[in-house]
Amino acid sequence: MPEGAVRGTEGYGGDATNAFHRASEALTFEEVHADLLDLIPQRPGRALDAGAGTGRDAAALASRGWSVDAVEPVAKFRELGHQTHPSPRITWLDDTLPDLETVRARGQRYGLVVACAVWMHLSADERDLAWSGLAGLVRTDGVVIMSLRHGPVPAGRWMDDVSGDETVERATAVGFRLLRRSDARPSLLPGKEQVSWTLLAFGRAG
Ligand SMILES: C[S@@+](CC[C@H](N)C(=O)[O-])C[C@H]1O[C@@H](n2cnc3c(N)ncnc32)[C@H](O)[C@@H]1O
Repeated sequence: MPEGAVRGTEGYGGDATNAFHRASEALTFEEVHADLLDLIPQRPGRALDAGAGTGRDAAALASRGWSVDAVEPVAKFRELGHQTHPSPRITWLDDTLPDLETVRARGQRYGLVVACAVWMHLSADERDLAWSGLAGLVRTDGVVIMSLRHGPVPAGRWMDDVSGDETVERATAVGFRLLRRSDARPSLLPGKEQVSWTLLAFGRAG
C-alpha cells in the first residue's frame, strides 16, 4: 500500500518528522510502559512492535534479548529507526495495521506485541480487524501491551476516539483476557497537559 494511503500516518512526514523523532526518543521504554513492565515475559523471544515509529521500544526490547519485527509504514521513520538503533535483532517491515499482510506472510507467532500510541490511528472497523488479526499472531503464552491516547487531535493528524472499555471488549471478544488496565495516565511530554493515556495489557484466554 502506498505510504500516502495510510490515513493514520497523516502529519508525520515532512517538517514533523524530526520533531516526532526527538519527542519519541526523549522518552524511554521503561518510562512509557512503567505500569506494565512486570507483565513482559521474562524469557525473550520474538516480539512485534506495531506502529514502531523510530524504534524506541523495538530497541529497548532488542537490548533485552528479543528479536523484534518493527512494523512502520512511514519510510523516513524506518530509516531514522535503523540509523538510531542499528540492532541486528530488529527487522524493519513496511506494513500496516489492521491487515499486517507482510507480518502474516512471515508466519511467525509472537511472545510479545507492543502497540504503543497507534490504536487511535485506526477506525472502529479497523480496530476490530486488528484484534482479529492479533488473535492469530500471539502465542498462547504471549502478551499484548498497548497505550491509548485521549485528548485533542494535533493539527494535520488523523485520530479516532478510542476508549479503554471498547478495547477490553474487542480484545476479550477474540480470545484475550485483560491482565492490567491503568487509566488516566498523564502525558510524559511537556506541554501535553490535555493528553492522557490508558495503558492495557492482555494475555490469551484459556
Ligand atoms: C504516535 S506514533 C507512536 C510511535 C511509537 N510506537 C512510539 O511510541 O514512539 C504512531 C505511529 O503509528 C504509525 N501508524 C499510523 N497508522 C498506522 C497503521 N495503520 N499501521 C501501522 N502503523 C501506523 C505512525 O506512522 C507512527 O509511527
